[in-house]
Amino acid sequence: MSSIDFAAAADLATLHGLLDLVQMKNGWAKPVPSFYPEPKQTFVPAHWRYRDARAALHKAGSLVATEWAERRNLIMANPIPGNDYPTVRTLVGAYQMVQAGETARSHRHTPNAMRVVLEAAPHTYTIVAGKKIPMAPGDVLLTPNWFYHGHSNESDEEAYWADFLDSPLVHLLGPMFFEGHPGELEPAQEIATASPLRFAFAEYKPRLLNQAEQAAGVRTLLLGPSSLPTFDRVAVSIAKGATWTVPRSTVNAIFIVVEGEGTSNAGGAHFTWQRGDMIALPSWYDHQHKAASDAVLMRVSDEPLLRKLDWVRSGANG
Ligand SMILES: [Fe+2]
Repeated sequence: MSSIDFAAAADLATLHGLLDLVQMKNGWAKPVPSFYPEPKQTFVPAHWRYRDARAALHKAGSLVATEWAERRNLIMANPIPGNDYPTVRTLVGAYQMVQAGETARSHRHTPNAMRVVLEAAPHTYTIVAGKKIPMAPGDVLLTPNWFYHGHSNESDEEAYWADFLDSPLVHLLGPMFFEGHPGELEPAQEIATASPLRFAFAEYKPRLLNQAEQAAGVRTLLLGPSSLPTFDRVAVSIAKGATWTVPRSTVNAIFIVVEGEGTSNAGGAHFTWQRGDMIALPSWYDHQHKAASDAVLMRVSDEPLLRKLDWVRSGANG
């Protein structure tokens, strides 16, 4: 028999008070419903300019010491109140710079990561699982869950790239682990130009341009087969003057401009972008991208995760 005298409650307010004593919440007068007819999105479409990030990182190069090179980055936190990390609910996008002659210490973590190289002179490498992978502008590089990775800029120019990680998803679910490499920078001799963890721009751009058009002047290419379980990367080419229209879906995405310039519309926001810029496209916003010159965008999204869970729906068919 309950130690709380629920039978004596004369009205609902009293019953609610008694429920507090046993840490239970009523489901009939819940102030915020737990179920609703379609997604409620708290994140907003947003745009960041590479030219701003580049100038800030260049300055940080003289203010943030080399021993913190692996953390000399800028986080594109979605501009909603109280947020200082995710770009969209499951993913974060960031920019990073490693100076000429500098190394960024090797480490590993459970979040999966991917890079899109913006500026890198020959002899700039990311070291993944003991191999040096060349970084060239436009290249896409993967560092899966628990693979050691570090960077070695053996050129005489600063290297800049964009990072994408599923760490916000790891924060939601809990399984965060991180450790530094015992040797600081993981030793590596072999240069793995054809690593399965690298999608070289010189290789994927012609392949992208050979795809059939999905709409006038618009082609897409999923960069695979190497895959991360939680997010993928789709290269999108939009010819000068063409428009790519995407109906809202449950997929969260971040776009980075690999080449060209243009404009995007999403949820009433209008952005004018150029090479290197990043755009947050949270789920459930219709969006449209128009190229002012031949453009290549990279869409990084949690579609593989939502697909596994059978939660992909779009405004076009949902
Ligand atoms: Fe990392």
